Amino acid sequence: MQNIPVAVIPGDGIGVDVTREAQVVLNALAEFDGGISFKYTEFPWSCEYYLKHGEMAPKDMLSILSSFETIMLGAVGFPGVQDHVSLWGLLLPIRRGFEQYVNLRPSRVLKGVISPLRDRNPGDFDFLVVRENNEGEYSSMGGRMYTGFDHEICVQNSVFTRMGCERVIRYAYNLAAKSPRKRLTGATKSNGINWSMPFWDEIFNQIGEQEFPQVDRRLVHIDALSAFFVSKPQEFDVVVASNLFGDILTDLGGAIMGGLGMAPSANINPEKKHPSMFEPVHGSAPDIAGKGIANPIGAIWSVSMMLEHLGRKDLGDRLMTAVEDVLGEGRVKTPDLGGTAKTHEMTAAIVERLRQYQW
Ligand code: NAD
Ligand code: IPM
Ligand code: MN
Repeated sequence: MQNIPVAVIPGDGIGVDVTREAQVVLNALAEFDGGISFKYTEFPWSCEYYLKHGEMAPKDMLSILSSFETIMLGAVGFPGVQDHVSLWGLLLPIRRGFEQYVNLRPSRVLKGVISPLRDRNPGDFDFLVVRENNEGEYSSMGGRMYTGFDHEICVQNSVFTRMGCERVIRYAYNLAAKSPRKRLTGATKSNGINWSMPFWDEIFNQIGEQEFPQVDRRLVHIDALSAFFVSKPQEFDVVVASNLFGDILTDLGGAIMGGLGMAPSANINPEKKHPSMFEPVHGSAPDIAGKGIANPIGAIWSVSMMLEHLGRKDLGDRLMTAVEDVLGEGRVKTPDLGGTAKTHEMTAAIVERLRQYQW
């Protein structure tokens, strides 16, 4: 029997609600399956913790987390603490410190869900954004000078390393090579950004030409690509993007799959030298926090990705079948999906569905 040590960081706002629900589902899966169990350790690191302790998490956070097999995270950031303080104090150091340089963010319409795109039904599109998760536009290099003067200067540098680009682009090619459509789209902006993006494109083309001639590759400027996610999402298979482009594209990916609450994500350290981390794409949603109506599916789908990472794709798939069965039936839906169900009612329906399967 596998007993998996899981670090749980619910974080802020609805992060707390949806993480609880994802754990309820995991526990149910463990009970029904009998071959796996989870030993959770919860950490209170959050904006609330910051207001008490003056830091988002203890200084030895990474060494504490390194003993876990995997990490579940809710969301970080809440009014009262500046976002760059909260995010650079908790989420981003984990992604970087644990070299979770691949951020996988799938997008498809689940059964029973209505996409805001007219005539896009379940099965019509199914793509995966591979977001670079450690460098790029999210760098802490830069600074301010002449603060308070009229000639104040602010510089924020982007950092694109050959190693950083190669490893995430190669990862994306590998996924594309295994997919039936064998198509990889690279998000670029080499018309307006004249150093980093041509460098990114060069590496994209080099790896494609030398290592993956069987993959149909194309580079698309990010502005047009965003429009194509709306006008022809069915054309995409695997999409690789720099950190910021991938961030923006995947909120759009969430919106077209029926809402941000649906979208899952996996921060992967492919070498498994460090734990990987699983969290929904969305944030702490202060506008609905405390109301008990957050859609838990992004978080639940994220643990399905976690199960796959832990070698139990079978269980992860089963979970997604249950999610689609419940949504397909249409009785239980949270308000963002047009229903009236509370967060915990959505989870309870999924657990009930799982219980009905032959185990
Ligand atoms: P957000 O994702 O929290 O919310 C955007 C909109 O989507 C809101 O209207 C919200 O109600 C809705 N929404 C999001 N998740 C939902 C769900 N599960 N069910 C139903 N509706 C949902 O984005 P924001 O408002 O820009 O950010 C709020 C805070 O969260 C900020 O502090 C931000 O920095 C932080 N944030 C954190 C993460 C993370 O930890 N990974 C991601 C994004 C934003
Ligand atoms: C996400 C979030 C984070 C990001 C923020 C909160 C730093 O938007 O996970 O998509 O941009 O990576
Ligand atoms: Mn984001």
